Amino acid sequence: MKIYQSAQILADEFAKEFVAAIKHGASENRKLSIALSGGSTPKMVFNILAERCGEDSDFWNFADLYWGDERCVAPDDPESNYGAAYDLLLSKITIPSENIHRVRGEDPPEKEVKRYADVILKNVAADSNNIPVFDWIILGLGTDGHTASLFPGTRLITPPEEICIVAEHPQTGQKRISLTLNVINNAKRVSFLVSGADKAKVVDEIINKKPESFNYPAAKVSPARCVVEWFLDEGAGRI
Ligand code: 6PG
Repeated sequence: MKIYQSAQILADEFAKEFVAAIKHGASENRKLSIALSGGSTPKMVFNILAERCGEDSDFWNFADLYWGDERCVAPDDPESNYGAAYDLLLSKITIPSENIHRVRGEDPPEKEVKRYADVILKNVAADSNNIPVFDWIILGLGTDGHTASLFPGTRLITPPEEICIVAEHPQTGQKRISLTLNVINNAKRVSFLVSGADKAKVVDEIINKKPESFNYPAAKVSPARCVVEWFLDEGAGRI
């Protein structure tokens, strides 16, 4: 767990880790499969990456970008996670179009969930159970203990072959496409980016395995191949 003085410093330090990981992959001529998250803290990271790596076209050849979850809206909808990444980052860098694997939020969810799963299976190496092994999955955390679009009450135990699911926001009913816990827990690296004092309670409950967290989807993030990383600002890390 790393606690930074502010959300901006958190984002800056995470961006440094992101750049280092891609450069390491590039040194081995390896493209990293990375699932981005929606939410306020990742958006700060996108801004920094656009400033820092906007000119470096070679850099982005080694990043294969996916989304951990997406709202079932058009890409130009203010709610779209892809849309936010496009405005803040993708529109400001030189990245091969084939390296961007967005969820087609504008398409019917039951159809898109299958298409997106096929895209992942086609491009991300899988293990012997045919579960994709992402190089890195970046996650946010909701005050209700949700992560990606896995909300409390969402079906979390899914068959191994289910790569992503159609979820529904509990308050708004908004349909979402989300990676399953199987896939999140199969990644080589999993990082939570969490900022804001409103998240301190849920962070404390999860990290300290308090009973309140037992039904939190985020508390079920327990990757087999790595230790979950927590990037927190002082507000969220005030445990
Ligand atoms: C989304 C995200 C979601 C987000 C959390 C935290 O699509 O909204 O994937 O899981 O990360 O809700 O969002 P904030 O960081 O903005 O509080």
